[in-house]
Amino acid sequence: MTQFSESKDKQLKEDASTYLVQRWEPSERQKPLVMVKGEGLYMWDAAGHRYLDFMSQLYNVHIGMGNRVPIEAAKKQLDELAYASPSYFSEPQVRLAKKLAQITPGDLCQTFFGNSGTEANEVAIKLAQLYREASKIIGFWDAYHGSTYAMVSVGGSARNRQFRGLSIFEEFKHIPSPYCYRCPYKKTYPECELICADFLRYTIEKEGDNTVAAFMAEPICSWAGQVVPPEGYWKRIREICDEKGVLLIFDEVMTGFARTGKMFACEHWGVVPDVETYAKGITCGYVPLGACIINKKMADHFDQKGFPHSYTYSGHAVSCATALAVIDLYEKEKLADRAAKMGAYMMDELRGMMERVPIIGDVRGLGLFMGVELVKDRETKESLFPRELSAEDKKDPDKNPMQYFTGKIKENGLIVGSSWNTSILRMMPALVISKEQIDEGLQVLEQTLTETMIKFSL
Ligand SMILES: Cc1ncc(COP(=O)(O)O)c(C=O)c1O
Repeated sequence: MTQFSESKDKQLKEDASTYLVQRWEPSERQKPLVMVKGEGLYMWDAAGHRYLDFMSQLYNVHIGMGNRVPIEAAKKQLDELAYASPSYFSEPQVRLAKKLAQITPGDLCQTFFGNSGTEANEVAIKLAQLYREASKIIGFWDAYHGSTYAMVSVGGSARNRQFRGLSIFEEFKHIPSPYCYRCPYKKTYPECELICADFLRYTIEKEGDNTVAAFMAEPICSWAGQVVPPEGYWKRIREICDEKGVLLIFDEVMTGFARTGKMFACEHWGVVPDVETYAKGITCGYVPLGACIINKKMADHFDQKGFPHSYTYSGHAVSCATALAVIDLYEKEKLADRAAKMGAYMMDELRGMMERVPIIGDVRGLGLFMGVELVKDRETKESLFPRELSAEDKKDPDKNPMQYFTGKIKENGLIVGSSWNTSILRMMPALVISKEQIDEGLQVLEQTLTETMIKFSL
């Protein structure tokens, strides 16, 4: 039984501040929570406060906490064979690679395993550069693909790129994502004729077709604002990549594994990438794992040439055994269908909430991959995030409505994701969520939005 106490909670928070490197933008006013227990969609901090999680922790615990299936699979594998050197293969690693080849679209067929989404993406661009004998990678502005140097460079997120002294690979280029709500070209779909997709062709030509190895993107770009692309977008991008001989890499670290209502998000548009990457939902956080899968023509190439890359924990036996058990759960419990159904219900409820809460500017998403964009004014679409404030004032909940909202909603017992320097909320609960839990969470959301409107006279 987990023991809760206010004094234990206080001590853990103090020790967390003293002994752990503080990530991202530390704020005196918003001490991190220290969680000690998880069950389904609920988490408890050390003081015993309960939180309903609409963020699946870091968008990865698709099956909720405390599920015995991955726990037993990991325990069994630890007993049998905890680890095999990457010079050999373990049985779960081989079985998982075969399973991925079976469930992924098109001719994606050979996998390299690492420990995280970042590593999977590093592998993807290295494979692409070696295959194409070209170094440039094009990605979306405002995207996030991980925090290592190469990923900071390919992801166009200003949050990662703002620091002086950080090494950025300048030859990685960016194009705007298909963010229709705030189209950078000031166009409207479908009259726009997908000018944003055509900008990829323009960029490749300006850079030189033979210098570009790949275009890398999430099928639904999360950091840029839960950007669901308009119909025809990915088909056009695929055509441009084929025309130019540039590889298409999909980062499905967040969108993959039933989250959007399909096993992989690219299936919504019938577009098959040359390379695809996974992490998060592949093991649902029970153990770490990342994977990068390539198509047949690349597999044939690397069968001949080999791939100069390895980690001590590539294809860790316990992680692969856990992933097999988790994938089995997705299939047996038809979790992609469930995500589609629950997502449709939640979307309807959120659209209904728009009638009562004027600061909701837009609701968008697919399955249980959803975004809510907050605005001061629906007509002008002025963002609720006050860009004009100084960095210090942005951290102040009395000056920044997003900071106030983020703290308040936690106090009210709901965890939702927010996107740095924007007023976009990510609503991505575990796929096993019930209608009652959706109602419970949305009630807290509406209450907290109302409290925010009252505080800032919106
Ligand atoms: C789309 C996407 N790619 C890559 C990553 C990096 O994955 P990891 O944190 O497992 O290294 C993330 C993490 O949030 C992500 O959302």
